Amino acid sequence: MYVLGIETSCDETAASVVKDGRIILSNEVSSSLRFHKRYGGVVPEIASRQQLETIAEVTDCAIKEAGVSLKDINLVGVTSGPGLLGSLLVGISFAKAISLSRRIPLIGINHLYSHIYANFLDGGDAPSLPFIALVVSGGHTSLFYVEDFDKIKIMGTTLDDACGEAFDKVAKILGLGYPGGPLIERLAKSGNPKIKFSCSNTEKPLDFSFSGIKTAVLYYVRQLTGEPVPNGLTHRCVTSGFQGQTNDIAASFQKAVINTLINKSLLACRMKNIKRLVVGGGVAANGKLREKFYQQIQEKGIKCYFPLRQLCMDNAAMVAGLGYRLFKKGYNLKGEKDAY
Ligand code: KG4
Ligand code: ZN
Repeated sequence: MYVLGIETSCDETAASVVKDGRIILSNEVSSSLRFHKRYGGVVPEIASRQQLETIAEVTDCAIKEAGVSLKDINLVGVTSGPGLLGSLLVGISFAKAISLSRRIPLIGINHLYSHIYANFLDGGDAPSLPFIALVVSGGHTSLFYVEDFDKIKIMGTTLDDACGEAFDKVAKILGLGYPGGPLIERLAKSGNPKIKFSCSNTEKPLDFSFSGIKTAVLYYVRQLTGEPVPNGLTHRCVTSGFQGQTNDIAASFQKAVINTLINKSLLACRMKNIKRLVVGGGVAANGKLREKFYQQIQEKGIKCYFPLRQLCMDNAAMVAGLGYRLFKKGYNLKGEKDAY
């Protein structure tokens, strides 16, 4: 069965053809990142305008690259949320048009759940159900208990910034650019994680909070540069700025975030007595995070799963894959059952 996936939840316009829920025949991603860079984050109006201009071409490329034609497609899966409203609207309208004109079923896919499904693509060692899933992306940080892809329960979520958002904001503070995750990762490689940063505690142990650590980095940098810091903190006026310490700040911030993610994931596994942890989302591409998770989670007898690095970021293969899985369970077929 050939499924066309379409994903336009944020700045990407992505289309993919996946066979039988696992075999990726094509995976096209066109990003409007270069238009957002100068604003230090994604501008929704620019994103949706670019998606409107590129979606037909990107989909066409995905179908050609897969070596099939539109009439071979049996199902369309499209990200239906969460995401930027204007961007989602472009993808959903386009997918609906294909579905109506070709008379093939259409299925709406939850973006976070598709990040989890990325672990099931392309012949990898797919986890068996049930499992705990950690989704760490630019817009979300959540722990889920996954009994099946239509039985997902949230166990914890961020109370403020998302994990990827914290990477992006700290990168901005350090003057590194956008998106911040890969830039922080690169700098952290040559840094010493000796600065004591930590993520704030949360009332519910499986929730997350990243805005405090971001502010701690900001104040640390301000102390180094001599800029005023609120709450009467003392200034260590270092006129040469913080450049000499950028690597250490990046490494220390990254270490604190990874430790928090590991501790909360382990707690979720313990609470449900589950020995499988599945990670997904853009931040899951971070090499240090992967290394530490494999090491520290597996040490506790829990098997850890990550998607291929190129499938961590937003893509449409994960949408097509999950579309197939839900379609096989009878979801949205003839509009009788709705997945979410
Ligand atoms: O999943 P994704 O592509 O988009 C959303 O659904 O949000 O995630 C994008 C986020 C950005 O915040 C980006 O900085 C972060 O993932 N990211 C990383 C890395 N690569 C991307 N964070 C840490 N380390 C990385 N290597
Ligand atoms: Zn995403």
